[in-house]
Amino acid sequence: MTEKKGTYYITTPIYYPSSNLHIGHTYCTVMVDAMARFKKLCGYDVRFLTGADEHGQKIQTIAEEKGVTPQAYVDEVVAGIKDLWKTMEIDYDDFIRTTDERHVKRVQAIFNKMYEKGDIYKGEYEGMYCTPCESFWTESQLVDGCCPDCGRPVQKAKEEAYFFKLSKYEDRLVDLLENTDFLTPEARRNEMLGFIRQGLDDLCISRTSFDWGIQVPTDPKHVIYVWLDALTNYITALGYPDDMELFNKYWPADVHLVGKEIVRFHSIIWPAILMSLDLPLPKRVIGHGWLLLEGGKMSKSKGNVVDPVTLIDRYGIDALKYFLLREYTFGQDGVFTNEVMLKRMNYDLANDLGNLVSRTVSMIEKYCGGIVPEAYIEDEFDKDLRAIATGAAAKVEEQMDKFAFNMALEEIWVVVRRANKYIDEKTPWILAKDEAKKKELDTVMHNLAETIRIISILIYPFMHTTSEKIRKQMGLWYAEVVWEDASTFDMMYQEQVKKGDAIFPRLDIEKEIEELEKLQKSAKEPAEENIPLELKPEIEYDDFDKIDFRVGLIEKAEKHPKADKLLVFQVKMGTERRQIVSGVAEDFKPEEMVGQKVIVVANLKPRKLRGLESKGMLLFAENGKRCEIVTTSAPDGEAVN
Ligand code: MSP
Repeated sequence: MTEKKGTYYITTPIYYPSSNLHIGHTYCTVMVDAMARFKKLCGYDVRFLTGADEHGQKIQTIAEEKGVTPQAYVDEVVAGIKDLWKTMEIDYDDFIRTTDERHVKRVQAIFNKMYEKGDIYKGEYEGMYCTPCESFWTESQLVDGCCPDCGRPVQKAKEEAYFFKLSKYEDRLVDLLENTDFLTPEARRNEMLGFIRQGLDDLCISRTSFDWGIQVPTDPKHVIYVWLDALTNYITALGYPDDMELFNKYWPADVHLVGKEIVRFHSIIWPAILMSLDLPLPKRVIGHGWLLLEGGKMSKSKGNVVDPVTLIDRYGIDALKYFLLREYTFGQDGVFTNEVMLKRMNYDLANDLGNLVSRTVSMIEKYCGGIVPEAYIEDEFDKDLRAIATGAAAKVEEQMDKFAFNMALEEIWVVVRRANKYIDEKTPWILAKDEAKKKELDTVMHNLAETIRIISILIYPFMHTTSEKIRKQMGLWYAEVVWEDASTFDMMYQEQVKKGDAIFPRLDIEKEIEELEKLQKSAKEPAEENIPLELKPEIEYDDFDKIDFRVGLIEKAEKHPKADKLLVFQVKMGTERRQIVSGVAEDFKPEEMVGQKVIVVANLKPRKLRGLESKGMLLFAENGKRCEIVTTSAPDGEAVN
């Protein structure tokens, strides 16, 4: 058993449920998952947090466009996100949603604490707001008049608002970035220092122009700025400030892994919030690069996203995870192409690793009756293989310390390739022909089995299913995977190997590229769907024929004296004038209705609405939460059939 080494708390960003997640989000989560599994295997008490960032104007607008409540909208997308992580066997310990009650009440408590400390004050905000990024900008920060983060247009915003005294923490933030390893990579650190040195404005942390957010506890017409809401997830998920057990155990976080575009929030605003709360700061914020597609950032709205599920369905979780972790240099942007992915899968997985395992198992079955033999002699090739295999774990640890997943996997593949070369050097099929070389042959089989055992441990954090498959074939199914065992040789004794299916099938790259392009294209252009609407029960023509629809001209409109939601219309239909009351005061000003020609249900039985008679009904179409008037240019009084 590995001895316990203390705690390790690691987080992903909490993703916006503005649409389904794509391979870019998957990339970040796969890195955190691999790191969490690695640290666990090394003996740490790991906590891995992920979640969803569900408030804000953007989500509210999307939900409105879809005609559902924001809560119903996020519930559906978040269920999809959780499904994706389940499909990918992402082993998180907690999934926080910013709509969770536990989070909402804790964010409010945090707001109060900062207010009581004197770090939050009320003022008036006037500036530019980027809705997609949920960010305020000053004029001078804009690039060509657009949001400096995403390049999209910004809107003028002015409102009464609460402010956080970010400027108060300027010196401490400079010190943090300049004199510690808080933020990597280096390039980001310099960028952030430059940003702070321009001078930090106090940060507007409340909005009144929409309501999909957490209310300021003492002033509920304000909702708390989404980034204050979102960033605090890292501590509210641990119970701060009312249930401190997990918090005391795991805080400060060891690593927040985030994409480069949100480093600013994590390395300036987040530490300042923690300083205001007098809490320890996370040990590290690490910014990773982007996966690009055809030179651009993936974006659902541009229709250029890669769906991880398509790839998993075809190639399996481990192949995709291996590719993401092996191909890209951590911290830098990288381009995703099907061809590069398929080549990695074929060369590294099917050829190098898959071949090594299947050749070795076949040979042990053929030459040793399926039982792993002992080693008897040692020449320079044996020595070299042993040294490389047992030395790899330390090198992997070194690379993982730097989050260099690609290099960690490269170190493991040095062993894989060395073992394949060893087979070529030792030519066991020739040794097998000579009875006198039996001990040498046994030694070769032993050393290969041992090397594969070590590889099965080394790859475990990155591809645990593949590791388990290999261990099963090697007769190691009974043994626990222990990291320290990767640095020791000669641990196997008479295990019974058993050939199984190829751990990675070989792919016909050209055919696969063609197939993938077809799949990805059809995902971009979804077939036109024809899903029947949910309607009220069917009626007979006679039922319909009972309704007398007429064109009506609105001559007068005013607010109902006793009901905020009702408008009172005077409607002319040919020779007749009558009063109709409708519940649309929230959507229309009375004056904009005058002169409109509308459709009236003219023979509806009259009734009184808050004391005023309403004779008939006007038709409106629903557009999200709002109503739209249904108009016509036909003469008033005419029938509508
Ligand atoms: N909700 C905020 C984060 C709040 S954290 C307190 C947010 N969400 S997001 O859905 O836009 O996700 C951003 C993260 O997803 C990035 O920081 C990055 O980790 C990952 N990625 C999204 N697109 C990506 C690529 N194209 N490439 C790599 N990672 C990408 O920002």
